[in-house]
Amino acid sequence: MKMPHFTLSLLLLFLFHCTTISGQAPAASPGPAAPLDIYKILTKAGQFTILIRLLRSTQVGNQINSQLGDSNSELTFFAPTDNAFSSLKTGTLNSLSDQQKVMLVQFHLIPSFISISNFQTMSNPVQTQASNTYEFPLNITTSGSQVNITTGLVNTSISGTVYSDNQLAVYQVEKVLQPLGIFAPRSLPPAPAPAPPKSKKKSATSSDSPVASVDASGAVGVTRNVLVSVGVSIVVSVLTGAIFL
Ligand SMILES: *[C@@H]1O[C@H](CO)[C@@H](O)[C@H](O)[C@H]1NC(C)=O
Ligand SMILES: *[C@@H]1O[C@H](CO)[C@@H](O)[C@H](O)[C@H]1NC(C)=O
Ligand SMILES: *[C@@H]1O[C@H](CO)[C@@H](O)[C@H](O)[C@H]1NC(C)=O
Repeated sequence: MKMPHFTLSLLLLFLFHCTTISGQAPAASPGPAAPLDIYKILTKAGQFTILIRLLRSTQVGNQINSQLGDSNSELTFFAPTDNAFSSLKTGTLNSLSDQQKVMLVQFHLIPSFISISNFQTMSNPVQTQASNTYEFPLNITTSGSQVNITTGLVNTSISGTVYSDNQLAVYQVEKVLQPLGIFAPRSLPPAPAPAPPKSKKKSATSSDSPVASVDASGAVGVTRNVLVSVGVSIVVSVLTGAIFL
C-alpha cells in the first residue's frame, strides 16, 4: 500500500521540479539578443558539416562561443566549406595530432572583428589565434572588395559573408587555410647574434669612433688606478696590522 503512494509523491515532486525549471527558463536569459552560437550560425548556413565536426572534436567551437559570451571580445573566422575539406589530399585531417587539429582551426581565427573594407588596412603577417606569425604566417591582400588570403602553401579569397555583426565576422573560404607550421614546418631563423663591440664601432659614424675609444681607454685607466690604490691600501693595512701585532 505504501509503495504506490511513495511513487506518486516522487512523481509529483518531479513534476513540480520541472514546472519550476520551465517557469524559470525564460527569465534566465533576459538579454535582448540570444548569445552568439557558432554552431547555429554554421548549421544555418549549410555546407559546413565537416568544419562543425572539427569545431566539436577540438572543442574550439566551445571556446569561440565562450569568447563571444564576453561582449568585449571580437572574432573573425574564415570558414572552409565542405568542398574545401574534401579537396584536401586524402587522409590529411586524419594524419594530424589532436594538438595540430586545434592549431589548424585556431589558424582560421583572428582575434578581432574585421569588416570586408577593413582588410585593406591590415598589415602582414596577420596575427591569428594559432601560435606565432613566423611558423603560422597568414597574409591578406585586397583589391577593391576582393580579399585574398595566402598562407605560403594555399592561396584563396573570401567567397562570401556567412555572418557579420560588430562582434563576429564569419567569411566563407573555398580552401582550408593550411599553415606552414603544420604542413611544411620551416626551421626557426637563427637568433640575432649579440653584436660584438667591434662591429658596433664600425657602424658608428667616423667622428664618434675616436671619442668612444678615448672614453673607453679613460675608463680602463681609471679602473686600473682604483685597483692600484685599493691594492696599495690593502698592503698598507696588512703592514699596519703587522706592526700593531
Ligand atoms: C587576388 O587573387 C587573384 C586570383 O588569384 C589575383 O588575380 C589578384 O591579383 C589578387 N589580388 C591581390 C590584391 O592580391
Ligand atoms: C607575407 O607578408 C610578409 C610581409 O609583407 C612577407 O615578408 C612574406 O613573404 C609574405 N608571405 C607570403 C606567403 O606571402
Ligand atoms: C600563390 O600566389 C603566389 C603569388 O600570387 C604564387 O607565387 C604562388 O605560387 C601561389 N601558390 C599556390 C600554392 O598557388
